[in-house]
Amino acid sequence: MRISVFRKEHFNAAHRLHNSAWSDERNRQVFGKCNNPFYHGHNYEVVAEVTGEIDPETGFVIDTKELSDLMKEFVLDVFDHRNLNEEVKEFQFLNPTAENIAVVIWNILRDKIDTKLDLVITLYETERNFVRYPANG
Ligand code: NI
Repeated sequence: MRISVFRKEHFNAAHRLHNSAWSDERNRQVFGKCNNPFYHGHNYEVVAEVTGEIDPETGFVIDTKELSDLMKEFVLDVFDHRNLNEEVKEFQFLNPTAENIAVVIWNILRDKIDTKLDLVITLYETERNFVRYPANG
């Protein structure tokens, strides 16, 4: 019997979406307010969804304390109150869109969680705009 466990965490971070190969005009057209050269912040919500069998000894798929600690140490401590473009190495050459942030978080956490468990990251950039990685199907 497979079941999913969710842990939601929150971080604030600043970013700028920009493609240096493009003109300033095209950057403004494509990225709008997110191209602001002075950066701007978002209140991100990140949900880690871990799916697997219930361990008969503990009754857990994963201990939510362990999952929370992993998210705090390897995601929040790295992303919270940071300028993603300037301070997080993964975004030195990668646009910090919600899509790319979700993939980066998945890659960070995937290494830390038992390979027999599946991991899905859902990242909310706003209440209404959110992404999921890996995609459904
Ligand atoms: Ni933005």
